[in-house]
Amino acid sequence: MNENDPARRRIILSGIQPTGTFTLGNYLGAVKNWRQLQKEYDCYYFVADLHALTVYHEPAMRRKASRAAFALLLACGLDPEKSLVFIQSHVSAHAQMGWMLSCLSPFGDLSRMTQFKDKSAKHPEDINAGLFTYPALMAGDILLYQADYVPVGADQTQHLEFTRNVAARFNHVYGETFRLPEGYFPKAGARVMSLAEPTAKMSKSDENAKATIFILDDEKTILKKFKSAVTDSDAEVAFREGKDGINNLMTIYSAITGKSCDAITAEFAGKGYGDFKTAVGTVVADELRPIRERYAELLTDKAYLDAEIARGAERAAHIAEKTLAKAKRKMGLC
Ligand code: TRP
Repeated sequence: MNENDPARRRIILSGIQPTGTFTLGNYLGAVKNWRQLQKEYDCYYFVADLHALTVYHEPAMRRKASRAAFALLLACGLDPEKSLVFIQSHVSAHAQMGWMLSCLSPFGDLSRMTQFKDKSAKHPEDINAGLFTYPALMAGDILLYQADYVPVGADQTQHLEFTRNVAARFNHVYGETFRLPEGYFPKAGARVMSLAEPTAKMSKSDENAKATIFILDDEKTILKKFKSAVTDSDAEVAFREGKDGINNLMTIYSAITGKSCDAITAEFAGKGYGDFKTAVGTVVADELRPIRERYAELLTDKAYLDAEIARGAERAAHIAEKTLAKAKRKMGLC
């Protein structure tokens, strides 16, 4: 089929690192959209455990975290019958392609990556080469599946740009091999901020326990965290410059209910922030409840989970190996 034929199903690919339970930010900003994209696209979603190797974790924890992340993806509605869901390290083509592409990755470009600069500032005791060549591995993830679109947050756009550059360089040096991927920025993608400090992004590793909603939090915890969310001294539920706390709660409410900001303002006219916080907490708890229940079910069904992990890896390897073989031929490796 012609590359530009509108009937060709476009390919979407994204990955998430298995470091800690996903937050409401990961869910509303990424995984919920990944679920919706399954209808229209051929989707590849994976647990980026090779990327997580760049920071030390205890091996047993690591194994557990990868399984948990895989189960969470399924629990969030990624359907292994529709999408290909897998764990990165189970497909050896990723590491191989990562090396091949690292040999086309200029030192200068890698040095300019803000994530590298941030992470090496954060872990000055462990600035390893993997942290440095991380973008080449990520480029391999994307190019192996000839992805058209990659839904990523703002913090990953530089890596995506890097991927396009390295793909173009490969194509130029060795002949046309890779499709150049584009970013996918969904209209509905919500950027969720910390509940305690609404000018900062909601983070898995926030030290303030009230700042972050984890996707496995129970109802009581969710309501409590929303009740203590930082807002301002106004009273009107309206989206306005400077009202970061309320804006964040409105973003969350809107992402879940699909209501516009104006509709939300109308709904809470004459009511105070307290009512609104309870309402946001309630819709979040309702949204997350089935995910939490499905997750618990999946973890008890070890045989099913193992089978899905193995099947995902096998199907992904089948596709990745084809691209890998093509790239190796072009480079004169086989
Ligand atoms: N680097 C991404 C992150 O930390 C995870 C990731 C790895 C990824 N490989 C990818 C995302 C390929 C998109 C495509 O969020």
